[in-house]
Amino acid sequence: MTHGGVSSTGASKKQVTMTINGKPYRADEGEIFLGVALREKIAIPHLCYEPSLDPYGACRLCMVEVVKRGKREMTTSCTLQAAEGLEVVTDTPEIVKHRNILFELYLAEAPKSEVIKAMAARYGVTKTRFLKKLDTTDSLGNKCVLCGLCVRACNEIMGAGAIGFINRGPYTVVNTPYFEPTKDCYGCGACVKVCPTNAVEMEDVADTRVMKSWSATKVPLALCDCCGKYYAPKALAIATLARITPSLKEEIAALCPACRGKRIAREEILAGSGGAGNHG
Ligand code: FES
Repeated sequence: MTHGGVSSTGASKKQVTMTINGKPYRADEGEIFLGVALREKIAIPHLCYEPSLDPYGACRLCMVEVVKRGKREMTTSCTLQAAEGLEVVTDTPEIVKHRNILFELYLAEAPKSEVIKAMAARYGVTKTRFLKKLDTTDSLGNKCVLCGLCVRACNEIMGAGAIGFINRGPYTVVNTPYFEPTKDCYGCGACVKVCPTNAVEMEDVADTRVMKSWSATKVPLALCDCCGKYYAPKALAIATLARITPSLKEEIAALCPACRGKRIAREEILAGSGGAGNHG
């Protein structure tokens, strides 16, 4: 990740100039085009773009046209990389046509998604000619567009692999294997956070997190010894703790992040106060 041409390692990134809709823009070489466009407030609809995951190009909504030697070629802007001299247009009649058909398809695929309805309406699409897929048993509330972000976050970020695509073609859904509660789920909620249509639901009930969309998988929560609140799934709290400075481990083991932060700050202040008054 880079900010202002400096990578997270501190090394300078090569800057390039590209043209978007006839205007020049600067970016880091190799930066994801969609990220640059959004930063520059150029509207491009998108559903499956998540900067913390590798580009994937599943939803096809973010199409743009790259101009090469006078010819135009459509491509997904979330997989396109910034390069010197790159010329891109974001709103041709072909793009609009492609986008509108996709909006109609998504309105049919996820008829209960207010996010999709609002996004499509912003681009002038309020109806669909396709048959709406309403399923009263759908654990994702008829809001899922199968972008796959939840599956990828679960696999690629958390390494849990608790959910996946089930069935094929028009019957494809996302859920746990055999639609049964799974022990592989940490209850971290990454799937809830990345879902672009708010389809994935979870709820904390007393000492348990219920992953409502994932076959009501139940995950025990950890209790803070200091403030007495449940604050995180137990398995995650233990895994996180294992990565914290060993000398602090025991004392903060049973505290929530807020109380832990206060305790660490106090320890640091007390440790620093040994030198208090020694300011030169
Ligand atoms: Fe680019 Fe989905 S955001 S294909």
